[in-house]
Amino acid sequence: MQFELTEEHLMIRQAARDFAQIELKPGVIERDEHQKFPAEQVKMLGELGFMGMMVSPDYGGSGMDAISYSLVMEELSKVDASASVVVSVNNSLVCYGLEKYGTEEQKQKYLVPLAKGEVIGAFCLSEPEAGSDATSQHTTAVDMGDYYLLNGTKNWITNGNSASTYIVMAQTDHSKKHRGINALIVEKGMEGFAVGNKENKLGIRGSDTHSLMFTDVKVPKANRIGEDGFGFKFAMATLEGGRIGIASQALGIAAGAYELSVQYAKERKAFGKTLADLQAIQFKLADMATEIEAARLLCHRAAWLKDQGLPYAQAASMAKLFASETAMRTTVEAVQIHGGYGFVKEYHVERLMRDAKITQIYEGTSEIQRIVISREVLK
Ligand code: CAA
Repeated sequence: MQFELTEEHLMIRQAARDFAQIELKPGVIERDEHQKFPAEQVKMLGELGFMGMMVSPDYGGSGMDAISYSLVMEELSKVDASASVVVSVNNSLVCYGLEKYGTEEQKQKYLVPLAKGEVIGAFCLSEPEAGSDATSQHTTAVDMGDYYLLNGTKNWITNGNSASTYIVMAQTDHSKKHRGINALIVEKGMEGFAVGNKENKLGIRGSDTHSLMFTDVKVPKANRIGEDGFGFKFAMATLEGGRIGIASQALGIAAGAYELSVQYAKERKAFGKTLADLQAIQFKLADMATEIEAARLLCHRAAWLKDQGLPYAQAASMAKLFASETAMRTTVEAVQIHGGYGFVKEYHVERLMRDAKITQIYEGTSEIQRIVISREVLK
C-alpha cells in the first residue's frame, strides 16, 4: 500500500495552491457578493492545463491521472468553490464523457477546444421535475431522420450561460423508459436554444447557474453520443467520475475552513491566552483534522480505483457522502471558532459554510449516494 504522493503529484498540487492564492483569493469575496463569474481565472486555468486534466494530449488534454485531479480540486476549492465547480464539470461531466464515448468527429470538433480550456462545457440532466429521479426526463428528442427535434427545459445548469458546448439528456422513446434517453451535443447559438435567468444562490455564487430552454432545436444525428438509448447510462457513468470531483471540492472547502481556523486560533487572544491554548478549541480542531484526513483518503482511494480501471462507483459515492458532510460540519465549526468575525465576509469562513451546502446536493444528494452505496453493500 502506497500513501505517498509522487513528485509529479506534489508539483501539480503546488501549482494549484499557488494559483488559488495568487489568482483566486484576491477577488473571491467580490465575485461571491456580485455573483460574478470568474471568466479570467477560468481562462488561466485552461492555460495551466486544468480544464482537460485527464484528457489525452492527442485531444488537447494534459494526460494527468484522477489523483492529480482530486489534488487540484481540493486546492482550488480551499479558496474558491465557484471556480472549482467550473473545473469539475468541464473535466468530469463533459470532457471525460466525450473522450470515452464520443466519435472521432465529436472529439475533434468538441473535445479538443474543451480540453484546452478555449471553451467551457455544461452537463444538462436536471429538470424542473427530474433532479434525483433522473430517469423522469420530460425533455424530448424526437427522431426526425438525420436530426433530433429537441424540446424542453433544463434547470440548475452549472456554466449555463458561460458554456459553448452542452450535453443534453432527452427522452426519444418514452415506452423504453430510461433506455429511450439520448445524450445530445448542443451548441450555443443553435436556433431555438435560449438561456434563462441566472439563479440567485446561497453559495457558489460566482458560478453561473441557469435554466435552459429548447424549442424545436434541430440537433444533427451526428451529435448523439453513443448508440440510440445510451443517454441515461452515459449520464450515470460520467456522474461517477463527477462525484470524485465534487467530493474533492467538498474536501477542499473543509480543508480551507480548517486552515483558516488553525491560523485564527493561534492569533486570537481570549481569557489571557490564545484560542489555541483552550481545550474546547483544541478538541474542535482535532475533530476537523481527523474528518478531513478521512475524507481525503476516501477521495484518493476513489481516484486511484478510477486510475487503475477498477470499478469505483461505490468508492466515489462514499467519498462524496463523507466529504460533503465533513464540509458542512467543518465549516459550521469554523464559523463558531471565529465567533463574530466568522459571521462577516472578510474572514472567508461564512462563504465556505454557504458553499459547503451545495456539495450535499449536486451530482446526487447525500441520499442518492446512500442509495448507490447500499446497492453495492446488498448486492
Ligand atoms: N454506469 C453505467 N450505467 C449505470 C450506472 C453507472 N454508474 N448506474 C446505473 N446504470 C444503468 C443501470 O445498469 C440500468 O441500466 P439497465 O436498466 O439497462 O440495466 C440503468 O442505468 C438504470 O439504473 P437504475 O435502475 O439503478 O436507475 P434508478 O432509476 O434506480 O436510479 C439513481 C439510480 C442512482 C437514483 C440515479 O437516478 C441517480 O444517480 N440520480 C441522481 C442524479 C444526479 O446525480 N443528478 C445530478 C445532476 S448533474 C449536476 O448536478 C451537475 C452540476 O451541474 C454540478
